[in-house]
Amino acid sequence: MLSIRFRFLQIRTMSSATSGKPQLDNSSNFLSELPHRKHPGILNLNIVRLPKEAENAAEYILKKFNIQHLEEYAASLTNYLWSRKRPIEDTDLRIKASALETAFRTALPESEIVTPAHNRKIKHQVLTALRKQTYNWQPLSYTEQISLMYLAARFDGGYAAVTRVLQEIYKRVPDFKPESLLDFGSGVGSVTWATHALWGTSVKEYMCVDTSASMNQLSELILRGGEESGDMHINNVYYRQFLPVSPKMQYDLVTSAFSLNELPNLSARQKTIQALWRKTGGFLVLVENGTKEGHQLLMEARDTVLRGGDKEIWDNRPACIFAPCPHQLKCPRLQKLPCNFVQQYQSLPLKWVRTTNYINTTFGGGVCRFDSYLISHRTHLNAGRSFPS
Ligand SMILES: C[S@@+](CC[C@H](N)C(=O)[O-])C[C@H]1O[C@@H](n2cnc3c(N)ncnc32)[C@H](O)[C@@H]1O
Repeated sequence: MLSIRFRFLQIRTMSSATSGKPQLDNSSNFLSELPHRKHPGILNLNIVRLPKEAENAAEYILKKFNIQHLEEYAASLTNYLWSRKRPIEDTDLRIKASALETAFRTALPESEIVTPAHNRKIKHQVLTALRKQTYNWQPLSYTEQISLMYLAARFDGGYAAVTRVLQEIYKRVPDFKPESLLDFGSGVGSVTWATHALWGTSVKEYMCVDTSASMNQLSELILRGGEESGDMHINNVYYRQFLPVSPKMQYDLVTSAFSLNELPNLSARQKTIQALWRKTGGFLVLVENGTKEGHQLLMEARDTVLRGGDKEIWDNRPACIFAPCPHQLKCPRLQKLPCNFVQQYQSLPLKWVRTTNYINTTFGGGVCRFDSYLISHRTHLNAGRSFPS
């Protein structure tokens, strides 16, 4: 007993040696005289605003097309895209249907003989329950009207989110000077504008891939300042409706922003990610909504990139996760809250004020949005290893 007391006193004496206050280890002095808000690990940006040329072009185009009730349509499109879930897989649907059928059959009185009428009733019950419980994913066709609504609803915020994500490479790997960009699901061109703003002097080719001809036309129109005969604000921007076929051709920067959920099933998403990774010479950057679904889409893509297994391998350099967490283990947040970041942006000066809701909340002069992202790279770059030193 005495010895226990003695040990306890010993521990107390030892523990009182620390003050209990957090202590800053400044021994490496890596910040020199800089204030802590300039810490190299801080990658947040202040309010991000579209380049003036993009903002003016968007305003001009939206005025020119003069869509009735644009505000309401843009708000519903934002809500729809934000709450969109992945399409259910056929196998999951069958498993769910079979579980429901078993439940309905066991609910029948034991004495009852199962007649064809019973079977019809159970089938009806299963279909009704499936319809109620299953998210009904539908492909979205980006027609001219919907593309214009997308421009009004998401160009400003999408640009801000992509800028924040690309900024991570820009700051952490200053030697990276991409010469080529491949943007999958390029839409209104947010990625092209953001890439140009950061690396405009080095990029010699911007390859935009989007199945929607209307989106491609609109994206080009924005680059021309709203007039078909206008000069392109960014040179060497090319449009394709499908990914370039040649597996040998690689791009320094490959991106996909808010486009993975446009694909109809897991297999299509995996094939697309494999194709994008095949085309990646440097970094593969994926951005999605900061929702559970967005996070899951990215974790699925992460698995595909890390697992490899592509039949057409032209580049043997293995994949490495660069950000947000540079490790290859399972994400501990997968089943919990989504891993996302907040970015403020200056909304397009359109006549309506964005409402305060869970997607966009106004704060300190800008509008806030939540996004998730994933950056993978080819390992030989040895990128991002310099911090913390
Ligand atoms: C939500 S928008 C994203 C636009 C753009 N990335 C942005 O951030 O502004 C999705 C885009 O993906 C395009 N898309 C859908 N399926 C596609 C496919 N299989 N290949 C290429 N683009 C596709 C759509 O036409 C649409 O423009």
